[in-house]
Amino acid sequence: MVTTPGPRSRGIQRAADLPLEDQVALLSGADVWRTKARGGVAPVLLSDGPHGLRVQMGPAGRVGLQQSYPATCFPPAVTLASTWDRGLVREVGAALGLEARTFDVGVLLGPAMNIKRHPRCGRNFEYFSEDPLLTGHLAAAMVDGIQSQHVGACIKHFAVNNQETDRFVVDAIVDERTLREIYLSGFEYAIARSAPWTVMAAYNSVNGAPCTANDWLLDTVLRREWGFDGVVMSDWGATVNRVDGVAAGMDLEMPSSAGMYDAELTDAVDSGSLDVQAVTRSAQRIIDLVRRIEDRPAAPVHFPIAAHDALTRRAAAAGTVLLRNDGILPLAPGQRIAVIGGFAESPRYQGAGSSLVVPTHVTTALDAFVAAGADITYAPGYDPRSPDEDPALVDTASTIAASCDVAVVVIGLPESFESETFDRDDMALPPQHDVLVRAVVATRTPTVVVLCNGSPVLLPWRDEPAAIVECYLGGQASGGALVDVLLGHAEPGGRLAETFPSDPHDVAADRYFPGHDYQVEYREGLFVGYRDAVTRGWSPAFPFGHGLSYTQFEWGAPRVDRRVVGVGEGVTLHIPVRNTGDRPGSDVVQVYASDRTGVVLRPTRELAGFAKVHVAPGQETVAEIVVEPRSLQFFDVVSGRWRTPTGCVVLQVARSSADIVAEVTIDVAGDTDSSSEPPGTPPVSLADADFARRLGHDVPVPRPARPFTRNTTLGDLRQTRLGRSVFALLLRAVPMDEQTRLDPRHARMVERGLEQMPLRAVAAFSGGRIRLSLIDGLIRTLNAARRNPLRRG
Ligand code: BGC
Repeated sequence: MVTTPGPRSRGIQRAADLPLEDQVALLSGADVWRTKARGGVAPVLLSDGPHGLRVQMGPAGRVGLQQSYPATCFPPAVTLASTWDRGLVREVGAALGLEARTFDVGVLLGPAMNIKRHPRCGRNFEYFSEDPLLTGHLAAAMVDGIQSQHVGACIKHFAVNNQETDRFVVDAIVDERTLREIYLSGFEYAIARSAPWTVMAAYNSVNGAPCTANDWLLDTVLRREWGFDGVVMSDWGATVNRVDGVAAGMDLEMPSSAGMYDAELTDAVDSGSLDVQAVTRSAQRIIDLVRRIEDRPAAPVHFPIAAHDALTRRAAAAGTVLLRNDGILPLAPGQRIAVIGGFAESPRYQGAGSSLVVPTHVTTALDAFVAAGADITYAPGYDPRSPDEDPALVDTASTIAASCDVAVVVIGLPESFESETFDRDDMALPPQHDVLVRAVVATRTPTVVVLCNGSPVLLPWRDEPAAIVECYLGGQASGGALVDVLLGHAEPGGRLAETFPSDPHDVAADRYFPGHDYQVEYREGLFVGYRDAVTRGWSPAFPFGHGLSYTQFEWGAPRVDRRVVGVGEGVTLHIPVRNTGDRPGSDVVQVYASDRTGVVLRPTRELAGFAKVHVAPGQETVAEIVVEPRSLQFFDVVSGRWRTPTGCVVLQVARSSADIVAEVTIDVAGDTDSSSEPPGTPPVSLADADFARRLGHDVPVPRPARPFTRNTTLGDLRQTRLGRSVFALLLRAVPMDEQTRLDPRHARMVERGLEQMPLRAVAAFSGGRIRLSLIDGLIRTLNAARRNPLRRG
């Protein structure tokens, strides 16, 4: 399918030549997916993203998840990240870019690159990692691939968008060092290395200011410090204060709010409260984006469907993590295999929400087993769409398992468990899935458990099966990739890009996640994921970086190009990797920096570099890993800059964050030997006074739920009697196609999504049917009706 190329611009190059009204008009969308054609400037088509195209069929004025043109559903970021393979991620990016161009898409809304602060974030499947270095490197590779096809990438969601609870309105309170070192550094790296054409400003606020109008984030950091000169667009419906937004450099409001803020902008310019130059600069950036897109080569008519499907299959296998294997895998030929689990027939291969792709084709595990000529017997064991227990299904599955040589039990999280718009309630699998594993293991038939999920789950039985394979969400060819791995046609190339805790309460952020009263406090600071596990010494079920291979690798002694390092200098390590097994395979060499300078509080070790190597049996290759100067630095909030502590740093060459193979010590001649945060053990729970010290001011008092404001969510509105009656009315005004609204698979996502929406966004999404003045009137009425107490959960 090809969309008709849009109209071309009429040679306008200078925003300053346009009348103010046209400049202002360019700063918001024409509909859900397009920028405006105005003043001779052509429109641009934007599309989700991040791991497949979602170009909507029919009118672009409605939000629809079902009716998009078929496109390749590549593995979501969680799986791509597990490949630790920059080259492969770039290849996927280039394929995405090619598909985008076929659809005449100017900007692909991805990659999504928020840090996985807590495993319960409902959208973790769309994000790469809990580690900023891995996130930054892979996001840069993805951007590079997309943009190699003359399609703009949009790194999102800038910034600190680490949860779905209250996502439109939550204020993330984070100290600056934690921001710089954990939550911003991936974005900084991707911007420096891959120059994305656009950045998406997130829904939430950071330290009191909405990301779409956050002068510090957008102007001080993004534009002035990092030199970003592309377009900043709002996440869909994230615009809060448009005048402040334009002043801060938030160029494009998406989607269209039917010109809701245009008058505010022109009035602000007229009254002198907004510098007209800010409007012109934003309009110019939109024009520059349009020109970039117009200058690209003509779009291909088709994309290579089969080749992209094959790439998906290869990438999914490369991101599959072999968590445990007693030698049963790969399966020996000729075995009778019991294939158990509804996901083998109705696979869970992508996440729910705005990233939902209508695939070109889906390969199930059953299809792939049959195509491979395997001797299989199938039993569902559970209903893939429902978490409810059905003992009869378990009994049948056990009987079948007992009659076979090996059982492959495919389990995971149903769609209703994890999605954009809500966070998971806990980390457990549906009870029936746990029951099923235990029942099959009890038959004494050797059992391989296969996991399909977008984020870590609890595996209380993890020592019992013969093998555990984490497939994550493998995209449309996930079933093929799984069978390739099980039968040994492909190497399970993945290593965990996140920690699998055995107890969610071990996670340092758990005490503060997801906050309350529209406020979330990042009191755990730098201690996210493995950084906390290695520092406070708790043992995860499976550590960050872990993953087994089908072959064996021996690593030689690391060579380092220098042992004495000055300010601004990095180190390069060379590690010989020999494949001593009899199969081709891949390995991931990880280098962690362990700061022993005694200058500053730091996690015990932090990822400083990595390399993925592919080695033929009996062959040796040398992994080259560059540790960049930044990995030796910390952000000093007193001087407001990156400093290099003087002293000794141990570079740890490792198979995972918990498995150090070799160490190299370097001497750093830095620029400081003291800091305001001396080393120590991070407290289990950070007291108010200590958090305030880190913030440099008192911990903000959460905003009371009353009086109602434009920021009040529909969920909160629903808590009052009058609010309930207007809720239904407002819902009808939000344009969404009926198929999406009524599909039971999306019911929870849609309902939670709407409940999260603040009143201002309802007005913005209504396409002009609900004006802000109406919302303001409603708020006045609701606030006057004080007799209905608001009950917030
Ligand atoms: C999501 C974005 C997405 C946009 C458009 C928002 O709800 O947060 O990631 O690109 O919708 O679908």
